[in-house]
Amino acid sequence: MSVASHLAVSPATYDTRIRSLIPLYDELIAEVARALGHAARPVRTIVDLGIGTGALARACLASAPGARVWGIDADPDMMAIARTRLGRLSSRVTMTTGSFLDEPLPACDAIVASYSLHHIRTARAKLAFYRRCYRALRPGGILINGDCAPASTPRGFARDLDLWYTHLGKTFGSRARGRRVYESWADEDVYVPLAEETRLLERAGFSVDVPWRRSPFAVMVGSRRA
Ligand SMILES: C[S@@+](CC[C@H](N)C(=O)[O-])C[C@H]1O[C@@H](n2cnc3c(N)ncnc32)[C@H](O)[C@@H]1O
Repeated sequence: MSVASHLAVSPATYDTRIRSLIPLYDELIAEVARALGHAARPVRTIVDLGIGTGALARACLASAPGARVWGIDADPDMMAIARTRLGRLSSRVTMTTGSFLDEPLPACDAIVASYSLHHIRTARAKLAFYRRCYRALRPGGILINGDCAPASTPRGFARDLDLWYTHLGKTFGSRARGRRVYESWADEDVYVPLAEETRLLERAGFSVDVPWRRSPFAVMVGSRRA
């Protein structure tokens, strides 16, 4: 599904619009890039899953000046914006159109994702995908996922979502309207609780850290043994 049809946001307006949809967007991206410091090996090749308009890729290139990024996205219109945004940094970026669930992942030192892995629909598919990520990473490499990863209990999840509804309420004029917008994403988005995300990553072989959390968002780091 394209971003335009899922979020009702055109790629051209994505960068201005996304901040009105997701609280702490910039902070989470900066923290994913900062978490590259967790790698137990030099970071030369970074895979960006769902590169979108390139905000995370740009932050990673700044955080790891010797690195190249291989970015993949299902939506070519989003990547066209990324190319413009990255400007001369594009010489350090290779982009592929396709699904990260289908395309082979290149051997790499880090795999990063911001707000894209909630598109994986089932725990089984996510575990299989995390196992593929583990195999693509070189020893000491890391997977860093910044996404919505709420509390496990329905009560905790509801409290977590408060922040999001309040944010959307400011954008759409009322909390009730904001909540309806959030609910309109439910056909496509699956937010896996942080505890379950941790279990999936561990089952795939990773050691897990959570260097940043502002409920319901989190930056999760899975490290492959050096
Ligand atoms: C909410 S956007 C996030 C984009 C970017 N990472 C950011 O932080 O702004 C989700 C992106 O993931 C892409 N995406 C979703 N599922 C995908 C898949 N299976 N394979 C490749 N890209 C996918 C969408 O096309 C979209 O660009």
